[in-house]
Amino acid sequence: MLKVRITEKAAAGEMTVYFVGQPAKGKPSCPEPLVNELIARAAMSGDFTAKEGQSVLFYPAAVTGKRAGQQRVLVVGLGKEKLTAEAIRKAAGVAVTQIGRTRAKEAVVRLPEKSGLAAPELVERLAEGLILGSYRFRKYQTVKDPEENGPQLATVALAAPATKAVQAAMARGVNAAEAVTLARDMINEPGNHWTPTHFAREAKKIAHGVGLKVSVLGKPEMQKLGMGGILGVSQGSAQPPTLTILEYRVAKKAPTLLLVGKGLTFDSGGISLKPSAGMEEMKYDMSGGAAVLAAMQAVGREKPAKLNVVALIPASENLPGPTALKPGDVITHYGGKSVEVVNTDAEGRLILADALAYGIEKYKPAAVIDIATLTGAVIIGLGHHRTGLLANDDKLCDKVLAAGEAAGEPLWRLPLAPEYRKQLKSTVADLKNVDKRDGGTILGAAFLQEFVGKTPWAHLDIAGTAWNFTEKSYVPKGPSGIGVRTLLTLIRNWK
Ligand code: BES
Ligand code: MN
Ligand code: ZN
Repeated sequence: MLKVRITEKAAAGEMTVYFVGQPAKGKPSCPEPLVNELIARAAMSGDFTAKEGQSVLFYPAAVTGKRAGQQRVLVVGLGKEKLTAEAIRKAAGVAVTQIGRTRAKEAVVRLPEKSGLAAPELVERLAEGLILGSYRFRKYQTVKDPEENGPQLATVALAAPATKAVQAAMARGVNAAEAVTLARDMINEPGNHWTPTHFAREAKKIAHGVGLKVSVLGKPEMQKLGMGGILGVSQGSAQPPTLTILEYRVAKKAPTLLLVGKGLTFDSGGISLKPSAGMEEMKYDMSGGAAVLAAMQAVGREKPAKLNVVALIPASENLPGPTALKPGDVITHYGGKSVEVVNTDAEGRLILADALAYGIEKYKPAAVIDIATLTGAVIIGLGHHRTGLLANDDKLCDKVLAAGEAAGEPLWRLPLAPEYRKQLKSTVADLKNVDKRDGGTILGAAFLQEFVGKTPWAHLDIAGTAWNFTEKSYVPKGPSGIGVRTLLTLIRNWK
């Protein structure tokens, strides 16, 4: 993983990166005379205007060679708009992508001048964008391209005063970004290398590393507790289900936030089998569980003061077979509600229902947030640029919306109302798990709502954003790791 540190040096031998804004009128400029001269020439040709996303790499003649301070100079455009945290992350993503195309092992990154943002804010967002933008998953590629010259980059030094505030901001940025890369690593793992047991194992490793309490409910415990949802979904698979529980505690009297993440390690649809085209993507169906686990790593490292956080990750495979759930089967969830499983592919809500009901009864949280790749319908409705958000509590909903906005992971609220409950009426059980396709995302949430009672609750449907999320310089193809920074921001700002 890319290392980010603070340096008080202004430039490095191998590569120095400058960010330059685009003026409303005229050519871009930079207070550094050498850089100013370079970009003036690039601007004269019309090649460089410093618009957002643009970059240009120089090998300055006067200072090449051993005696020189600057072998390469990379200039990244910031565009015309007022600088935001998100614009800094994106510019950092562009920078690290361009550095990665060279053989430079180390780069010094200069903070944008006159940005209107304070040094700590700049440093935090740069650290996030640099680490997230340099993420690649190469674990299973053993054959190296002999022509490939990158990525060599190991360290980026941010040229900033090493004050306490700057160091703390960098630590926050690094902590958040490393949690996201952890989530991406888990999500990238193929189904045969990432089973419910892996969730339990990884959680123990993380918990021991950062000092969290961890416990795992296995099949026998689930049977005793009557968790018919998780048991039912997993019964067609040779892999036993797990329910992993992580606890971060500050004080008994502090409020508790409960996080629940869908950890469906492979979703074939079960007997209601999915079509084969694109089915390989269903290894990502544990993105919610990965986000929750990764957020707990960050929480464990950061130790926020005011909030207890408990995380539950129900994990299972969903496969067809002689012992699998069948359409029409009736299961009984934790707490006693019965459900007619009309479609075995609507399995996420079944494993979440047990976890929500159990977590709320056991931990009496002040609020609950679940995060899940729950419905294809959210992709139809919102595409890949907004996470679907449904909630039974306006205050909690607003907090989540604000956290997502600040994290560069925007959400969009969809309604919940008693009328939707009618679509879940079953003739044989208390509820059925699907109806016609109408309002699919709302219906998924309406189902979950049956298991949260009056506890303030928000549901994040990340089926459209967990991968193929809005193309961004700091979100490479594949899993985005969405949700990790939203949850962490929410926890950091909790009042
Ligand atoms: N994991 C899927 C949802 C999903 C679909 C995620 C596409 C990412 C991309 C979920 O378990 C599922 O299969 N949902 C069904 C529900 C339907 C049967 C009511 C769906 O969305 O088709
Ligand atoms: Mn499914
Ligand atoms: Zn699923």
